[in-house]
Amino acid sequence: MNADQQTFLRDAMRRLNLTREAFSQRIGVTRRALDTWLLPEGSSEARGMPEIVQRFVSEILQAASATEETQSVQAGALRDRILFEGRPQLLSVDQFSRESVEALFRVADIMQPIARRQKVSRVLEGAVLGNLFFEASTRTRVSFGAAFCRLGGSVCDTTGFTFSSMAKGESIYDTSRVMSGYVDALVVRHPEQGSVAEFARATNIPVINGGDGAGEHPSQALLDLYTIQREFSRLGRIVDGAHVAFVGDLKYGRTVHSLVKLLSLYRGLKFTLIAPAGLELPAHLADRISRNGHVVVQTASLAEGLSGADVVYATRIQKERFEPKEQEQFEGYTPDFQVHQALIDAHCSPRTLVMHPLPRDSRPGANDLSTDLNHDPRLAIFRQTDNGIPVRMALFAVLLGVEDQVPRSMRDAGWRPPAAIGPDDAAFDALEA
Ligand code: NCD
Repeated sequence: MNADQQTFLRDAMRRLNLTREAFSQRIGVTRRALDTWLLPEGSSEARGMPEIVQRFVSEILQAASATEETQSVQAGALRDRILFEGRPQLLSVDQFSRESVEALFRVADIMQPIARRQKVSRVLEGAVLGNLFFEASTRTRVSFGAAFCRLGGSVCDTTGFTFSSMAKGESIYDTSRVMSGYVDALVVRHPEQGSVAEFARATNIPVINGGDGAGEHPSQALLDLYTIQREFSRLGRIVDGAHVAFVGDLKYGRTVHSLVKLLSLYRGLKFTLIAPAGLELPAHLADRISRNGHVVVQTASLAEGLSGADVVYATRIQKERFEPKEQEQFEGYTPDFQVHQALIDAHCSPRTLVMHPLPRDSRPGANDLSTDLNHDPRLAIFRQTDNGIPVRMALFAVLLGVEDQVPRSMRDAGWRPPAAIGPDDAAFDALEA
């Protein structure tokens, strides 16, 4: 019961967007009582929640769902609220409002039992996904493919220019139109900014931007924000008012570009941007954050920038995108920008989340996000990658208009996955003593 009780309460706080303090007031209990119900199983202070409280919280949630439902009926289907130039496609996080992001996350929550291999669904049976990746990828390509398969569809992949007809001079327009005759949705990654939009304009089927050069990576930013929300709900806090520190190559890091825009939809955040000279966040993005009423601090000092951060979002240096003169300039700068255990211990709290879109360079001397944090529960990188599945399932379900069919389509899975996916997975409770 205890683990269920914690999940129930955390999900309720997240759904209602209430901090732990505000939630305890809303349900009329003391903060102390709520804290004891949220303590991990086995803790001597942990208490069972009275059933009457559970019923009251359920009623509040039902009322909230009814309001959300009325609002979404009034606002129309989610697919129609996030169109790109009139089509159900995802090119940029600019297509989202705070309300539509939250609506997408509710669909992702519905997908969780499937993503966790407890349930199966075949709502996309017969549908085929085309994965067109013209740039290196492991997690984006495979997780989009796995998400589509877990909804019952199948996947055709092509990787790199060498094995595609683009090597013979075929245009984006022709490739996109041809592929659209074969498949029902496309995920495209391409090294040139704006090129995925060109693919999208040449077809009426759903196209998702899996990363366009230094442009955007909307699905990664969505899963990052979903992760932040879920992790914060463990801590009884909300995204509004959070302090997020971005570290590394903020100039070329497309996941950062998409995530700062999404976070800007929330209220009263502090963004600390820690980048070496020459790799700062593009000015139009920093201006946009400030215009939306958030605080922006730019610094080249990790120690200074990380102090008090609720989230540290580290990134890889995108050397492959560097201009030739940048290649020389930035060779060997990375040691100053390595996020490692001693640094996090010295400047961050036990409640700080450490994130990275991955891949990180784990070779000796690489100075990316350090592997010495691997056993630290604050390291959320694999919880991020795990969350990629429900979020990408939600995107497919919404863009293909099947999200309402998912709940009644679920059956029990016929096999049992391991209880914890990774041998080193640590629970992140960070509950204050
Ligand atoms: C990132 C990407 O490709 O933009 N990775 C990802 O998709 N999770 C980041 C990177 O390559 O460094």
